[in-house]
Amino acid sequence: MTDSNKTSEKPWGGRFSEPTDAFVERFTASVGFDQRLYHHDIIGSIAHATMLAEVGVLTADEKDQIIEGLQAVKADIEAGEFQWSVSLEDVHMNVEARLTDRIGITGKKLHTGRSRNDQVATDIRLYLRDEIDVIAEELQRLRQGLLELAEREADTIMPGFTHLQTAQPVTFGHHLLAWYEMLVRDADRLQDCRKRVNVMPLGAAALAGTTYPIDRAITARLLGFDRPSENSLDSVSDRDFAIEFCSFAALLMTHLSRFSEELVLWTSAQFDFIDLPDRFCTGSSIMPQKKNPDVPELVRGKTGRVNGHLVSLLTLMKSQPLAYNKDNQEDKEPLFDTVDTVKGCLKAYADMVPAISAKADNMRDAARRGFSTATDLADYLVKKGVPFRDAHEIVGKAVAFGVAESRDLSEMTLAELRQFSDIIGEDVFGVLTLEGSVNARNHLGGTAPNQVRAAVARARQQLAG
Ligand code: ARG
Repeated sequence: MTDSNKTSEKPWGGRFSEPTDAFVERFTASVGFDQRLYHHDIIGSIAHATMLAEVGVLTADEKDQIIEGLQAVKADIEAGEFQWSVSLEDVHMNVEARLTDRIGITGKKLHTGRSRNDQVATDIRLYLRDEIDVIAEELQRLRQGLLELAEREADTIMPGFTHLQTAQPVTFGHHLLAWYEMLVRDADRLQDCRKRVNVMPLGAAALAGTTYPIDRAITARLLGFDRPSENSLDSVSDRDFAIEFCSFAALLMTHLSRFSEELVLWTSAQFDFIDLPDRFCTGSSIMPQKKNPDVPELVRGKTGRVNGHLVSLLTLMKSQPLAYNKDNQEDKEPLFDTVDTVKGCLKAYADMVPAISAKADNMRDAARRGFSTATDLADYLVKKGVPFRDAHEIVGKAVAFGVAESRDLSEMTLAELRQFSDIIGEDVFGVLTLEGSVNARNHLGGTAPNQVRAAVARARQQLAG
């Protein structure tokens, strides 16, 4: 990046009598990070020039020169032959200056009827719209992977937890579909956010609109926006679309972080419920036996920066008077990092999730160890006429006996169980088995294996449609 510091080089240098302080120049420049908007800046400019020619502000020849010039600038950037200049502040002035270098005086006409204020707002929206579409696809891939795994594990029994204490048996497929539901809501939120991103600020100019006979409907159509924005002041100052995206991202990351926490727990020797493939883990430089679940740990850790970016943007906006303020230049790094982080985490998860393997025997043993069918025994008594509170008491005593004897309810003899209630008969063993327990929860949203398979089928249909 070059650092020449001449007043004359600045597109706004006319009213200034001394060069910008060298430190201030670097301090106020955004080109170091906003150059990633170059593609969207250029397509926005091409649409703007096309519209200006259609309404007669530029001649057709001027428009053609500008478009050719901008395409050449884009090719230079992509070939790594573009010298970004800090003294030209940002991506917008860098691109425009290079255009003028290439095509001469006509290049200086591109900025007619617009300002960097509506230009930057347009660029970010175009950028974010494209990234939303990439993220939506990655989210879809993760959802497909989860369905694949849930279907494979529809019959696998594990302990379900409340308070991280064994509660009732559930199927692993059912547990996975809980994560699936969170991701469905995340995907909905993303699409909802996209509607508000896809509105075009261009034409607002600096803040009040422009005196040229622009046709904003043309530019909006060329750029694939749903419509031009309604109010010029709002258009150049609003960043709530970016905040909304970051809040989508914070919720998604919160879900992935909770999921990660479980994967980390489950890979530990203490749980030993699942195996993550080696390619998603790393070792320790000192402890030869270690296989660490780095991917879930990192995803859990990265939730912090995404939540932080949401708070950064909210705080950035909270005291800004209308309309554009330079504060808004600070919107980009949090937004870009949120996009990068979410894409990385989703890619890792979409690749990893279908490759998770369940250790079904360990899950089953854990479900048996924790008296997870105690509620089933209480329900059995209730169905035979015992009031629920009394049933609860009876089963509590049976559990205390099991704890003392180190035996699950299903491992007691009928005589032993009858010490607590003589209503208990031989048929009790049908409800005390893990299969009996999960199969009995056979309704929409329940954990029974056939409900899991039905939920997977519905979800697949929804994903396809
Ligand atoms: N680099 C600026 C930003 O990111 C572009 C808009 C600058 N506008 C201005 N009036 N200084 O927000």
